[in-house]
Amino acid sequence: MCGIVGYAGENSAASVIIESLKKLEYRGYDSAGISILSNGIDTYKSVGKIVNLEATVPDGTSGNIGIGHTRWATHGRPSTTNAHPHTSGNPCKISVVHNGIIENYMALKEQLTAEGYEFKSETDTEVIAHLLHKHIYGKPDGREVKCELLTGLREALKEIEGSYALAVLCADEQGKLLLARKDSPLVIGLGKGENFAASDVTAFLNYTRDVIFVNDLETAILTPTSVEIFDREGKVCEKKIEKIEWDFEAAEKAGYEHFMLKEIHEQVSAIHNTLAGKVSELEGTIDLKELSMTDEEIRKLSRVQILACGTSWHAGLLGKYLFEQLAGIHCDIDICSEYRYRSPVISDGTLAIAITQSGETADTLAAVREIMSYNCPTLAITNVVGSTITREANSVLYTRAGPEIGVAATKTFSTQLTLLYILAVKFALARGKLSPNYVKGFITGLRKVPGQIQQILNQKEAVKECAENFAHAENYFFLGRHFNYPIALEGALKLKEISYLHAEGFAAGELKHGPIALLEKGTPVVTIATRGQTYDKVLSNIKEVKARDATVIAVADNKDTEIGKYADVVLTTPQTSELLSPLLSVVVLQLLAYYTALARGCSIDKPRNLAKSVTVE
Ligand code: F6R
Repeated sequence: MCGIVGYAGENSAASVIIESLKKLEYRGYDSAGISILSNGIDTYKSVGKIVNLEATVPDGTSGNIGIGHTRWATHGRPSTTNAHPHTSGNPCKISVVHNGIIENYMALKEQLTAEGYEFKSETDTEVIAHLLHKHIYGKPDGREVKCELLTGLREALKEIEGSYALAVLCADEQGKLLLARKDSPLVIGLGKGENFAASDVTAFLNYTRDVIFVNDLETAILTPTSVEIFDREGKVCEKKIEKIEWDFEAAEKAGYEHFMLKEIHEQVSAIHNTLAGKVSELEGTIDLKELSMTDEEIRKLSRVQILACGTSWHAGLLGKYLFEQLAGIHCDIDICSEYRYRSPVISDGTLAIAITQSGETADTLAAVREIMSYNCPTLAITNVVGSTITREANSVLYTRAGPEIGVAATKTFSTQLTLLYILAVKFALARGKLSPNYVKGFITGLRKVPGQIQQILNQKEAVKECAENFAHAENYFFLGRHFNYPIALEGALKLKEISYLHAEGFAAGELKHGPIALLEKGTPVVTIATRGQTYDKVLSNIKEVKARDATVIAVADNKDTEIGKYADVVLTTPQTSELLSPLLSVVVLQLLAYYTALARGCSIDKPRNLAKSVTVE
C-alpha cells in the first residue's frame, strides 16, 4: 500500500511533495522518492523515512511541478534502486510513481528487454515507465516525440493488467503532470494557482479541502491552473467537487473511527490484491512464481511443518487442515516458542512454512533458525518485504495486505489464509489430488470472497447491536468445528486482545470434555454454524449449550432457515463452500470484537500490554 503524490503550482514542488509524503507515511515508508520537472526531470530517492529523502534533496531545488512516492515494498526489496519514481530514457524522459500491482509485468519486462530497454530495478512499476517511453519515443534511444503524453499513456495502459494509481511526468511536456487510475485510490485537490494529486486526501489537507475523486479507468491532466479529467473513451468528463470536512486524524483513517475498523474493511481489497496474478479461473491453475519449487519437488515432500505464533498460528492451524485434506500431505503445526525447546524430530522431505505478518517475531525467527539448521527448506509467509524472515527463509510468499497499523491482526490474517488456500490447492494439483475442474470451481468461489466480505460489512450494524448487548458479560466462549475451529480460536483471541474480556475458543466437540462446566445462565457462546459436514454435530453442541441456559450467538449462512430455532442471536454470512467459509466467518468475529471493545471504551488500536511485532523472546 504505497502512497503517491503530485503537485503543479507556484511553490517549490519539492517542498510541497515532501510535506505531503510525510502525511502519507502511515501507508508505508520503506523508501521514498520525488521527480521534479525543470527543463528535464530531476529525481531523488532514499531508503527509510521521508526525512531521509528530505536530506537527499538539495536545498533550493527549483521546479513547480513534480511527483513523489512513499513505498511499501511489494515487488523487490526496499532499496534506493527499487524506490519510485521509476524513469525511462537517457537523459530521463519519463518518470512514473505507482500504487498498485502490475500483474503481467514479467511478460512486459521480457518484451521490453528484447526491444532494448534496460531495467534497473526489481519492481513491477518500471515496466510502466519503459512502456510509456516506447509509445512516445518509439525506442530506448528515441529522441523524437511520436505522440502526446496523454495518448501514449492511454496506449500503454491498454497493455497493462492489474491495479494502478499513477502520476507521470514527461520531459518534453513541461507545465503538467498526468494521472491515471484503476482499482487503486486517487484523489485530486483543487487549490488557487496550484493543484494536487494523492492516494488519499491526508496528503494535501493542509493546502485544500476541495477535492475530486478520480474513478477507475479515468485519466487526468494537472497544471497549476487547470484540471482536466477524461473518461475511459478519452472524452472530457464533468466531475463533482467535494468538500472534505474530516480533520487530519480522521482522514488518515479514511473517516473510520479506528485503524482496526478501516483494516477490517480493507480485507476486500487485500484479499483481491493477494490473489492478483496467482490464480487462473479459466484454466483452473495456481501460479506461485515466488515458490521456488517444481511440481516434482512438491510431489517428493513427505511432510509440511508450520511454525507461527498467535493469530498467525491460527492461520497455520487452518493450513494444516487444508494441506492434509486437499493435498493429502502430512502436516504438523507448532507454536514457535515451544518448538525451539522441544527437540523436534525432522524427517527427510519436510518443508517448513513460517507464518508471520511482521516477519520480525523473535520466537518465529528462532524456530526457523532451528529447523533450517537441519537443512530443511523453509518458506516464509509475511506481509513485510525486507523483514528479517525474508532474508533468512529460502523462499517468500507475500500477503498483499498493505501496512497494518491496528495492533490486533485482521487483514494480515485473512490474507495469510488466502495464501494458505492457494498453496494447499497448488500442492494438491501437483500431487494429482484435485482435478483442474474442481480447482476452477474453487477459484470461482475464492474470487467471490471479497464481494461477500463487503456484504458482511454492509450489515455490520447487526453485529454491533449484538456486541453492545453482551459487552458486559464476564466470560465469552467461541465454538467451531473442522475448518472453523481455528476461527473460533481467533475470534476469542481478538475479543480478549482488544476488549479485555475473558474469552476462550474451543473445538465444539471438546465442550463436553471439560469446558461445559464453565457455562452459566446467560454466558454468551458464539458458535460458528455454517453449512458443512459437521453442521448437524454443531447443532447438537448448540443444544448442549442451551441446556445449560447459556446464550447462543450463531454465525450461520444467510440461507439457513433452521438455525434460528436453536440460537438466541443469528449473525449471517453469504453462502459459500464449507472450505471457504472461514474467510467469511472470521470477519463477523472481528467485527464482534471491535464493537465489543468500542462499547467498553477500550483503546482499540493500541491495546494495553501488546505490541505489533514481538521482537523479544
Ligand atoms: C493478534 C496478533 C498476534 C500476532 C503474533 C505473531 O492479533 O497480532 O497474536 O499474530 O504476535 O505475530 P507475527 O504474525 O508478526 O509473527
